[in-house]
Amino acid sequence: MHLSAAAQIGGVLEPINASPVVIEDDVLVGGNTGVYEGTIVRKGAVLAAGTILTRGTPVYDLVHGVVIRASEELPLIIPENAVVVPGSRAVGKGKGHANADAWGLSLYAPVIVKYRDDKTSLSTALEDLLR
Ligand SMILES: CC(C)(COP(=O)(O)OP(=O)(O)OC[C@H]1O[C@@H](n2cnc3c(N)ncnc32)[C@H](O)[C@@H]1OP(=O)(O)O)[C@@H](O)C(=O)NCCC(=O)NCCS
Repeated sequence: MHLSAAAQIGGVLEPINASPVVIEDDVLVGGNTGVYEGTIVRKGAVLAAGTILTRGTPVYDLVHGVVIRASEELPLIIPENAVVVPGSRAVGKGKGHANADAWGLSLYAPVIVKYRDDKTSLSTALEDLLR
């Protein structure tokens, strides 16, 4: 696992049965990222700089066309080799709607843009070489 500058990994002080964040092998945790509230990041995943993951954060998987969420039983789980970058999504309700008297807001939304390929491995290897 490579933990970059200013990355924050949430810990567990209480309650006693709360689950810890799990970062599996060969994950790149980019700069200024935050991984909290029992999130599990599976083997080989890449969290691009600035990605924030909490139990309540939906993650948009562009490759498979699904939205990944935590459930009552399971925390947020980032799949093996997913490349997650910080994105945004339009707000579709209330004053967020994109009509005349609305605010046209967006919310932060992490996006899986791809699954690790040779280019990703090159980008992340370069990071290691530079230090
Ligand atoms: C994720 C990362 C490893 C790039 O991986 P990659 O496999 O080479 O990604 P690609 O260049 O093929 O990009 C894939 C897509 O994601 C987008 N993308 C890549 N990195 C992105 C980022 N950080 N934020 C937003 N979008 C990003 C690209 O624009 C591309 O989308 P497009 O095809 O629509 O243009 C790199 O951006 C990154 O974040 N590295 C970590 C940097 C860091 O924190 N270093 C530690 C310093 S201490």
